Formats: sequence, structure tokens, C-alpha cells
Amino acid sequence: TRTQDETNLPSAAKKDMADYLVKLEKQFTLTPQRMRMIVDSFIETLERGLTAKGQEVPMLPTYVFGWPTGKEKGSYLAVDLGGTNLRVCHVELEGDGKFEVTQTKYRLTEEQKHADAQGLFDFCAECLDNFVKDHFGDEDGKVELDEPIPVGFTFSYPCEQDRIDHGVLIRWTKGFGAPGAEGKDCAELFKQGLEKYVHRDSQKVPVKLVALINDTTGTLIASSYVDPATRAGIIFGTGCNAAYMEKVANIPKIKDLGLPEDAEMAINCEWGAFDSTTHETLPRTSYDVHIDETSNKPGEQAFEKMIAGLYLGEIFRLIMCEMIDEGILFLGQETYKVEKPFVFDTAFLSLIESDTTDELLTVTGLFAHFFALDTTVAERQFMRRLAVLIGTRAARLSACGIAAIVSKQGLLDDSTEPAKTIGIATDGSLYNKYPKFPQRLEEGLVDIFGEKGRAIKTYHAEDGSGVGAAVIAAMTKARKDAGFA
Ligand code: GLC
Repeated sequence: TRTQDETNLPSAAKKDMADYLVKLEKQFTLTPQRMRMIVDSFIETLERGLTAKGQEVPMLPTYVFGWPTGKEKGSYLAVDLGGTNLRVCHVELEGDGKFEVTQTKYRLTEEQKHADAQGLFDFCAECLDNFVKDHFGDEDGKVELDEPIPVGFTFSYPCEQDRIDHGVLIRWTKGFGAPGAEGKDCAELFKQGLEKYVHRDSQKVPVKLVALINDTTGTLIASSYVDPATRAGIIFGTGCNAAYMEKVANIPKIKDLGLPEDAEMAINCEWGAFDSTTHETLPRTSYDVHIDETSNKPGEQAFEKMIAGLYLGEIFRLIMCEMIDEGILFLGQETYKVEKPFVFDTAFLSLIESDTTDELLTVTGLFAHFFALDTTVAERQFMRRLAVLIGTRAARLSACGIAAIVSKQGLLDDSTEPAKTIGIATDGSLYNKYPKFPQRLEEGLVDIFGEKGRAIKTYHAEDGSGVGAAVIAAMTKARKDAGFA
């Protein structure tokens, strides 16, 4: 491959790149002061969501009551429809905070995300059917069980619930748009799929849907099953969202249910929607606005669109494209490959940030291989800075959300020494695979709270969507057995 000699790069382009960086640094940097302002507004928004239905951040009651004991036991199935993949798992809870998971993943096509919703739920049912036949069937795939296996459906989109095995989809997020689901009970749509695919050739129904849960709630509960210090469950993946445990007394909008005041219920915040209505709080750039306006859901999920894995690569790409247009990057080269929306995966940002060689050879390879572009050292250094800016902003904005939940609950007010750990259980590729994301998150928390922010510890929780669904199914059964509705 041709390596463009550094000295051949017109010095004007180099200077333009440096100027651009200064401009971008201004736009993407969040000062501690700015972060604290965001936190204050975030707390108000979370509180407003608890007062009435239909708020910007809907703070959805999940009908998951209180924490697991860690002794939940049994055999469960989980179907996880989250964003990128569909997953079916069998979870064996061993009753001592331990579990075993067997799973199969199925790729979802863009078509499936946008074609008729019943077809999507039918596909979920079909995959579950295959899984059950493989794992519980005889040689002919015939399944004979004494009792149906309880299924937790991890459906990670905002759903209004009035009981655990039901959930009306408020709106699709994360680029989904299948018509026929919004405003409908998606547990019911899934059950219709089960009728068609799983129950067809057996008198005995081998599975039973018992709970519809969000991935954040699953993460909260799965983590608490093994670690009682857990206070919130957060997903940093294709989307971004949080769940935590709230006192029923603090949820005015469900007071008609007449639940005991000291009861607790998990709340699925759907915080991705923060600041979507007025855009008064978040420092959106023209790139964020462009992403929003060209998305299938303009005017929604403003916070999520600045943080989540679905969007970070695209923000990076939009900046590159602007600089190509202005004649600053990739001079004299064919750039059409990189000019296609969403071709720049967020994983590329991780890769760029992980390259610690002087010459940034991984970056060279990445651009050559995926986009047939030669890069100069100066360009690659610029890319690295750009990835750092975008990745850091995402982590620091996330820290604001965590800080809002922690403050709202007064978790740092306790003056016990040494400070009790405030456990923040997380899952998702951004947290698990993006270098420095966890560290930047924790630095952000210290910028907001000072040294006492160090009591907040984030960690990866094992398979919240699968194990969480199983533990919640077990908790639901225990509640029913105890005579609750
Ligand atoms: C989106 C969904 C939310 C989910 C999150 C992470 O924000 O609306 O329900 O928890 O993505 O998957």
C-alpha cells in the first residue's frame, strides 16, 4: 500500500486538522460544573417521571417487588430480544447465588426489525421452539414435560406494565420500527407466537410466559442475586438505560394500587429519553442533531443518542465526512466507502483507542481494510483524539445519570466509615469492550461528587438479561405461591 509521506501533506490540511480538534474539544468536553448542572436537571426529571404517566423519562414500574434472596432455585428459559441479537437461554438457578446458563444466539436482520411486528414475535417463538426441542426433546424433537417451563421474556424497549406478564410498548428505540407493536401488549403478541410455534404439536404445553422484563431490571436483579451491594442496573450497549429499586411510597403514580408503603418496586427509568423534549440541558452538537433528525425516531432518545453503541461510531463518521467535504481528510482519495451512514461501527472506536503503537498501525489497517483509505500519521493521531473525545463524553454523560440515581436515593448521605460500597451493575459492549470506559465513568463520578464518589463502584454483571429473567420468574412464582396477585 502507498504510504503518504508526511511531508507531502499540505501544511494547510495539518493546520486545519489542528483547528478542528480545538473546535471539537470545546464541543465535546464536559466540565465538572456542567456535569453537576446536568445531574440536577436529571434528578428533577426522574422525580417527575414517578409522579404521573406519560412523562419524558417515563420511570416505568416493573412489578418486580424488592430484591431477590439469593436462594431462588429452579429451571427457567429466557428469550432476550435486545437490539442486535435474539438469544434464547436455559438458566438453572442453584439457589445459592450460583447459576448455569446454556444459550443460543440468532442474528436479527434489518428487515425483521422493520417488518410486521407479529412476524418478529413469531420468530422469537420459533427460535424458542427450536431451542426447547434441542434441549428437552427426544430424538424426534418431541417434548414431554410434567410441567411447562417458565419463560422470562427480556424485551428491552419501554413498556408500560400493570402486571409482570404484560407490557404495552410505548415506542420502539434502538432503530427498531416494526409496525403493529407500539401501543400493543407485546407479551400478548409473543404469546400468539407461542401458540403458533411452540404449542402446536403437543397436548402438553411445554413453556409458559411468566414475566416480561427490561434488560436493566434483569441486570439489577441478576447482580443482586450474587451481590447484595447492587443499587442500580445499567446497560451500556446498543442502547443505554438504567433500573433501580424504589420505595413504593416514592412512586405517587401507583398509589391507587394500595400497596404497602414499605414495599419496594424496581423502576425501569428509560433514561435514554432524557432531555428529548426541550433540549435545554445536554450539550448537543450539530452531529448529534443530524443523527437525531435522520433517525427513524427524530425527537426521541436524546441522551441515548449521545452515549449508546448504536450511535458513537456514526458521530465519529459524521465528523470525518464533514472534514472530507472541507478537503481536510483523505486528500485525493476515493472516500465513498466511508460516506455510507452507519458503516463506521462503534467497535472501530474501541479498536482505535486500543492502539498504543507510535505509528498507530491498527488504525492504518482498519482504514485500509474496511474503507480502502490510506492514512497519514497525522490523520491517525487525529482519529485517536477524536475517538477519545467521543468515548469520554459518552462516559461522562453516563456518570451524570448514575449520579442522579445515587443522589436521588441519598445513597452517599450515609456517613458510615468506611463508606459502604454503592454497587452499579452494568452490562453491554460499551462497558465490557471499550477501553477506559469504566475508568472514565468512575472519574466522572469523582468529578461530580469529589472523593466520596469513590464509594460508587461499577462492575460487569454476568448475563443480566438471561439470569435476571430467570431470577425474576422465580421471584414471581414465590410471590404467587404466597398468595399475592
Ligand atoms: C433502549 C431501550 C431500553 C433498554 C436500553 C438498553 O434504551 O429503550 O428499554 O433498556 O435500550 O438495551
